[in-house]
Amino acid sequence: MRIAVLASGNGSNFAAIVDFFQKEKLSVEIALVFSDKKNAFVLERAKKVGVATYQFSPQDFSDKKMYEKSLLELLQQEKIDLVVLAGYMRIIGPQLLAAFPKKIINIHPSLLPAFPGLHGIKDAYDYGVKVTGVTVHYIDDGVDTGPIIAQVPVLITTDDDLTSLETKIHQAEHQLYPAVLKEIVLEKQDRH
Ligand code: GRF
Repeated sequence: MRIAVLASGNGSNFAAIVDFFQKEKLSVEIALVFSDKKNAFVLERAKKVGVATYQFSPQDFSDKKMYEKSLLELLQQEKIDLVVLAGYMRIIGPQLLAAFPKKIINIHPSLLPAFPGLHGIKDAYDYGVKVTGVTVHYIDDGVDTGPIIAQVPVLITTDDDLTSLETKIHQAEHQLYPAVLKEIVLEKQDRH
């Protein structure tokens, strides 16, 4: 199975996924990393581990549709089976969704449907909930609304500040995302 990772920033989830699949004997290839941001650190990480990188932004095109069209062409040319969003800070448009039904997944740093949007960790912390967590879900046309695949809870204790909570959430993400991907890969292999 050929996986594409779409990311806009740091890429710690990408790194965790690559690490995991290097150790597993599964027929999975992290075929490429795409970023909409020129200076995204995920691109450095990908180059270091020998994963192909691609970068372009909506600003490089006449409109968002053309951007999506180019991204779709890239994914199709590279024969991608599964699209993994890992800190990709854009909405997936209708063309991509239609071309990859139930084949685009995302990780979100809260227990959805609580605290969707850009600041899932901070919003949970500020609200004062005692349990938050991480969600992996399929993408649909809403923001953080697609069918949930897996969740893990993360406790917020009186010792936590926002930074320590962020660390705990990211650790949980780095465990959960590869594990969910493995399940999806095994499921798809069984079907063949
Ligand atoms: C993660 O917290 C993820 O849940 C959210 O964006 C962040 C990406 O982190 N969607 P990284 O770029 O993988 O380090």
